Amino acid sequence: MTAKIISGKEVAQQIREELRQEVAEMKEKHGVVPGLITILVGENPASVSYVTAKQKTSHDLNFYSVQDNQPEDISEEDLLKLIDKYNNDPKVHGILVQLPLPKHIDEKKVLNAIDPDKDVDGFHPVNVGRLMIGGGEAKYLPCTPAGIQELIVRAGYETEGAEVVVVGRSNIVGKPIANIMMQKAKGANSTVTVVHTRTRDMESHCKRADILIVAAGVPDLVKPEWIKPGACVIDVGVNRVGEKISEKTGRKIAILKGDVNFEAAKEIAGAITPVPGGVGPMTITMLMKNTVKAAKFANNIQ
Ligand code: GUN
Repeated sequence: MTAKIISGKEVAQQIREELRQEVAEMKEKHGVVPGLITILVGENPASVSYVTAKQKTSHDLNFYSVQDNQPEDISEEDLLKLIDKYNNDPKVHGILVQLPLPKHIDEKKVLNAIDPDKDVDGFHPVNVGRLMIGGGEAKYLPCTPAGIQELIVRAGYETEGAEVVVVGRSNIVGKPIANIMMQKAKGANSTVTVVHTRTRDMESHCKRADILIVAAGVPDLVKPEWIKPGACVIDVGVNRVGEKISEKTGRKIAILKGDVNFEAAKEIAGAITPVPGGVGPMTITMLMKNTVKAAKFANNIQ
């Protein structure tokens, strides 16, 4: 059996078209344009490429959109002041500070400084708490986990009562996706297991999974024989394993590999996301969705 390939690129495109429509309507009926600020400190090449892609998408959707580049040696105090400026700017509905930050800056302090109502990343402790409580409480779901849930549902997998196994316990992916999938809600209601570096027998847990979500950051961690035949496999890994020359642009680009051996796994799984082109495009799209939500919330638009 060859798995259905879940194209995050295609699903992301569909959602972006829906958002484009919503943004046009908001502008016409209410005179409101969603505003997104992305703050980049330093020039980490991966961060530059992520932030550039976020800005490109928000321009494409006709947001008011600004990329604020700050030098690597900006002080923590000045970064906090900058965030405060945007917290108080009514044109700005969403603020994103690209992580990781340089070592001299306390990441927690910075995330805590963003107004929770403008925290379109969903990283502020208030939004993390709202997600845990669930029901109507959750306001902004963090973007990568929200995109993963959307892909599972749109791939037609039943989540209710399903065995979901999450590999990895990061704050950005593992913990929040486990929380989302266990909620008493549509597209969730799953039985969730989280495995990690201290798990005794990772293989036996993975083998039970109807839906296997892998976010460990270790290339080829999950072996094909760990996959239950027909399972839905979501590979969140984006591992840079080398460089090549792009056929399209002639420029050097990173060779990316997931946490799952795609070629072998697709012969066993029922559906699987590729790397690249799987979860990645969804993360940016869910950020756009959260920004539209933030703009509606700030302007009392239903
Ligand atoms: N660095 C890697 N992923 C993310 C993300 O989703 N948001 C932010 N702010 N930084 C990141």
